[in-house]
Amino acid sequence: MDLDRLISPRAKSLDASGIRRVFELGATMNDPINLSIGQPDFPVPASVKDAAIDAIREDRNGYSMTGGIPELRDRCASWIASDLGWPDASTDAGRSELGVAVTSGTSGALFLMNMALLGPGDEIIIPDPYFVAYPHMATFAGGRAVRCDTYPDFRMTAERVEPLITPATKAVLLNSPANPSGVVMTQAECRELLELCRAKGVLLISDEIYDEFCFDDAREDFENGRKCPSPCREPGSHEDTLLIRGFGKTYGCTGWRMGYIAGPPRLVQEIAKLQQYSFVCAPTPLQWGCMATFEADMSGPLGDYATRRDLVIEKLGPYTEVARPGGAFYSFIKVPERLGMTGKQFFEAAVKKNVLIIPGGVFSEQDTHFRLSFATAKLRLIEGLDRLAELMAS
Ligand SMILES: Cc1ncc(COP(=O)(O)O)c(C=O)c1O
Repeated sequence: MDLDRLISPRAKSLDASGIRRVFELGATMNDPINLSIGQPDFPVPASVKDAAIDAIREDRNGYSMTGGIPELRDRCASWIASDLGWPDASTDAGRSELGVAVTSGTSGALFLMNMALLGPGDEIIIPDPYFVAYPHMATFAGGRAVRCDTYPDFRMTAERVEPLITPATKAVLLNSPANPSGVVMTQAECRELLELCRAKGVLLISDEIYDEFCFDDAREDFENGRKCPSPCREPGSHEDTLLIRGFGKTYGCTGWRMGYIAGPPRLVQEIAKLQQYSFVCAPTPLQWGCMATFEADMSGPLGDYATRRDLVIEKLGPYTEVARPGGAFYSFIKVPERLGMTGKQFFEAAVKKNVLIIPGGVFSEQDTHFRLSFATAKLRLIEGLDRLAELMAS
């Protein structure tokens, strides 16, 4: 069989080599200090595990409605209402103003959002550096991702986005707290970006998969407490933003593939329709499991991550530029210019010291930085940071 003839140009055009190379290398290393991992290092809370196990045992294993079991959809809706002040879509009145749907992971939501918005010639503006899937998802949908250069502070400000908006622009995709930098926008920056999108008639999409991992110094005071800044906290934002959130990173269940979206009902219905003919629904027993997340207290892991963030800045800050992460569990660190190395060359040098990081070129058009994940036990992290500091000082 001539597979080369059969396989689509779409599949062939994808280059999986960046991340794959890191994983392949990791597999050959002897007990590496792995600072490349993009998922939390704590177990799923017992109450959340129990809720999923109970659902499996009680035979709640069939398909759910495309938009999720009504119980979880309503729980997400009432949480969004109390957190963001958006209409409460768990009530009849709120449902006419806001659509909410449970999706197969945040990736599922991002994929379907691109499919719902983009066609040939359409553009979506994404940050650079970006979460690795962003550009490809736009391409799958037949559109194009336009990269907004956010170096050196990794803030996707209105000023940086404005020159990129053209008649082909359908949406702007914001990710705060960000992967790979951990940078959190201020509320004023979020407001300006939303105002720009409103003025230009484009949709603002807010990927808030790390919203719960927002450190106290990046939070701001709102009427309902100290919260992570978000364009979705602006008055009336439910009419012109699409919110994407997830459970995987916050509760340590990335393998469960659970996320949700909220936004204008017409758009959410289109996305749900696409879900019906692709993912069908999010895994039903795990939807029941996620019901218990709303009562889980994650302040312990959040405090741990803030301490580890401080360690990264303390150990590497003296040698290079480290944009202070306000959330998530990543830092995007510049290879000291003095070394004259690309991100890839620095990554190779780190591998020789048995430390695994990810070269910045995997997340960006330029290869001047590397991503370090601090979702690693504290003592291992310190050891890894010391070895990277040694390399930087050499
Ligand atoms: C910014 C961002 N968005 C979305 C995702 C995908 O998350 P999920 O595992 O829920 O699909 C990730 C995962 O790393 C991410 O970093």
